Amino acid sequence: MPAVFESFEPRDIIVTGGCGFIGSNFVHYVVKNHLEVHVTVLDKLTCAGNRESIAGLPADRVELVVGDICAGCRPRRLRQPARP
Ligand SMILES: NC(=O)c1ccc[n+]([C@@H]2O[C@H](COP(=O)([O-])OP(=O)(O)OC[C@H]3O[C@@H](n4cnc5c(N)ncnc54)[C@H](O)[C@@H]3O)[C@@H](O)[C@H]2O)c1
Repeated sequence: MPAVFESFEPRDIIVTGGCGFIGSNFVHYVVKNHLEVHVTVLDKLTCAGNRESIAGLPADRVELVVGDICAGCRPRRLRQPARP
């Protein structure tokens, strides 16, 4: 794999569908294994989504934004990158 990927260390990530099955498990994995990473969950909270699936995670590391990724959700609310 190219070296550029080996050094890729994001500090802020967005997980769409992060209240669903796969997304919430990924969010839990990141919180547990990558302590330096902040996660913004963008989820529409359909019948498949449940905010309880990420409940209890540290509020300073995980933020839930309820919105539809298909609706041009370019939220000013989404966290600005910690670094360029
Ligand atoms: N216990 C289990 O084994 C179990 C449980 C649930 C699902 N599954 C399996 O997992 C797979 C599906 O998991 P998944 O995580 O891909 O789907 P999911 O349906 O569990 O989650 C999708 C998430 O995306 C959100 N979402 C949908 N449209 C959106 C939009 N436009 N904008 C923002 N958010 C949106 C939903 O609200 C939901 O939280 C399937 O194969 C299913 O069979 C297994």
